[in-house]
Amino acid sequence: MGTDSTSKTAMDEFLDGLLARMTLAEKLGQINLVTSNVPVGDNILADIRAGKVGGILGGLDKISFGVNGPDGLRPAQEAALQSRLGIPLLLAFDVIHGHQSVFPIPLALSCTWDMERIRATARAAAREASASGLNWVFSPMVDIGRDPRWGRIAEGAGEDPYLGSAVARAMVHGLQGDDLSAPDSVMACVKHFVGYGAPEAGRDYNNADMSPTRLHDVYLPPFKAAVEAGAASAMMSFSAVNGMPSHADAELLGAFLDGVLKVSDFDGIPELIAHGLGDEAGQIDEADPLQTLSERALRAGVQMDMMGWGFLTRLEKALAEGRVSQDQIDAACRAVLEAKVKLGLFADPFARFDSDRAKRDVLAPEYAAAAREAAAESCVLLKNDGVLPLSKTLGSIAVIGPLAADTRNITGPWAFQGDPAHSVSVLDGIRAAVGSGVKVRHAKGANITENRRMVELLNFAGPKVEIDPRPPAEMMAEAIAIAQESDAVVAVLGEAAEMSGEAASRLDIGIPDNQRDLLKALVATGKKVVLVLMHGRPLTLPWENDHVPAILATWFGGHQAGPAIADLLFGDKVPSGKLTTSWPHHVGQVPIPYDRATTGRPGNALEDPGKYTTRCYLDGASEPLFPFGFGLSYSHFSYGVPQADKVELHGDDVLNLSVAVTNAGPYAGQEIVQLYLTDPVASRVRPSKQLRGFVKLSLQPGETQEARFTLTTSDLEFHDGKLNRVWEPGRFVIGIGPNSRDLQSLDIRWNK
Ligand code: NOJ
Repeated sequence: MGTDSTSKTAMDEFLDGLLARMTLAEKLGQINLVTSNVPVGDNILADIRAGKVGGILGGLDKISFGVNGPDGLRPAQEAALQSRLGIPLLLAFDVIHGHQSVFPIPLALSCTWDMERIRATARAAAREASASGLNWVFSPMVDIGRDPRWGRIAEGAGEDPYLGSAVARAMVHGLQGDDLSAPDSVMACVKHFVGYGAPEAGRDYNNADMSPTRLHDVYLPPFKAAVEAGAASAMMSFSAVNGMPSHADAELLGAFLDGVLKVSDFDGIPELIAHGLGDEAGQIDEADPLQTLSERALRAGVQMDMMGWGFLTRLEKALAEGRVSQDQIDAACRAVLEAKVKLGLFADPFARFDSDRAKRDVLAPEYAAAAREAAAESCVLLKNDGVLPLSKTLGSIAVIGPLAADTRNITGPWAFQGDPAHSVSVLDGIRAAVGSGVKVRHAKGANITENRRMVELLNFAGPKVEIDPRPPAEMMAEAIAIAQESDAVVAVLGEAAEMSGEAASRLDIGIPDNQRDLLKALVATGKKVVLVLMHGRPLTLPWENDHVPAILATWFGGHQAGPAIADLLFGDKVPSGKLTTSWPHHVGQVPIPYDRATTGRPGNALEDPGKYTTRCYLDGASEPLFPFGFGLSYSHFSYGVPQADKVELHGDDVLNLSVAVTNAGPYAGQEIVQLYLTDPVASRVRPSKQLRGFVKLSLQPGETQEARFTLTTSDLEFHDGKLNRVWEPGRFVIGIGPNSRDLQSLDIRWNK
């Protein structure tokens, strides 16, 4: 039954022939996706042989066959080939930011604004994952995240749909490569369709309610971008948007995911029962609600059931009783088989089990080098009163904090196959950077948190966060004594890895209180303190920003974060990352994306205190502490006046813009130049500004380069009340600058 042809006709013929030979039970087996640690029957290999399994997702260390080596999944694929028709399995895993080589978390990578770098990290992950036999990864997560309470903000590219779309494309290209059937490519799965990133109150799995125009302007674009880039599969969202869970949303699934294999999230179909959903008429089989909802999900367009069991066990009855059609089952089965053809699995089911390639690719030294570069470029310098970079000729440095010597949290959430033994801590990175001439001393100073309920939750799925048995006062005293004897203090503080990612929402998004107490005591020593943050979300840092001379946001930077951070601390590299989320002063401000629409009472800076304006909170600021796009350098970049090649445009004209940027500081560095568009008068209320271009320049001291941008009418478009994409002629304001707040603007008119 081999075919290596992916041309449409040959593939269709092959699939027609295969489907014609399949029994109903075999078809239902193909659309069943299970974990390898939860057997279908008593013996998963027997079930695979019996044709009851179309794919496996696996890899938590407790499973029966892990994915740590090219042979790990081989028995599963062999069993599939022993089934009646010998149809190979999809072998899936959550490969989110690297696989065995761990790169920075996706939110961190987005702060590089470097699509080639992001593509390359995804390519490395694909090569490692595929060398272990995997052919499908549940990535990229392209959910727009605007609420830092939501822990899964760590897994995406931040708050902006334009940047998020660029990242989505880069990830898909990296994972799938030029040829999905190549043994080092894996099928991407864009997730979670759609609106999962907008849960009410920032609580994971919570529903969202939003206007259709917001859904189309903000949340859908990265999915469209990923699908246009060729993403061959998509995963549904656990949540309901505007009252409709995506697993039952026939309209959106049909409109946006045509031709893409649509898979449920883990247990997502049975969870429709808890949502209180019935069939399209609001009815349910009370004796067997899974019957009703499995049918409904299939009718809506879900094609593969991840750990729901209902497609396997309920659709035969549904077909017999006429509530689903043979065509619907065939279409779902065909989508699974088509993915397998595109992956080249029929041609060679073992092409991805290549131990020679695994020896070369897994943990390859070039991936470590790339991870170090990526980690350095992900870091965002939030504040620097001149303390940084530190000199390598200091006599002594105190490296303090519960995350300073850490090698596990540094890999962040969703790094199941990343062995902490390959992580280099910040402490070790600093030691290696300064050599033996500088005395480097370390103390933890505090636990990550003293909140015991939180510790219990963080350790829910296994021991992850260790609590030092010493009394907190004793730990702090040890740290302060070391700080007092040192010339500079590097405080490595922040979150545990499990404080972000799935099921990791937080009410208070600051540094945990006990760590802040440590920081206060360190600052009170009067020593130079550099705050190095580890975290999976924007944090609130009001006290820190007022009192600590230098703050470096490093996210969870992966295996090579330690050396990368040391490169930045000592000026071997210059910070260049810029935020892809707005950082509030206070959690009460969220959501606070930069593109929020202007109101009828916007207020302006001259009105103090601005009462009766949207900008007024009685008890604090309304603007973010660090705006979207913000990030400092050790160098200084001066901007010329932005230039446009025309100020009056018509129809399909193309607008070319440029700005001269000069590195006016002492260090070679990189600057991310940003362009925002404002449509000041429109038929609907529009965002106050929207990112429409960015350019990353590398500049030597004294060097000037032009950042160039091109706009077309598609950049002016938005969805009107009827969800048509339109643009409206008139005046537009273009702002160019180093971040979303500090812009120089120019006006143009664009007529039809
Ligand atoms: C649930 C998560 O929502 C999803 O992102 C992930 O891919 C699946 N579990 C499988 O692990």
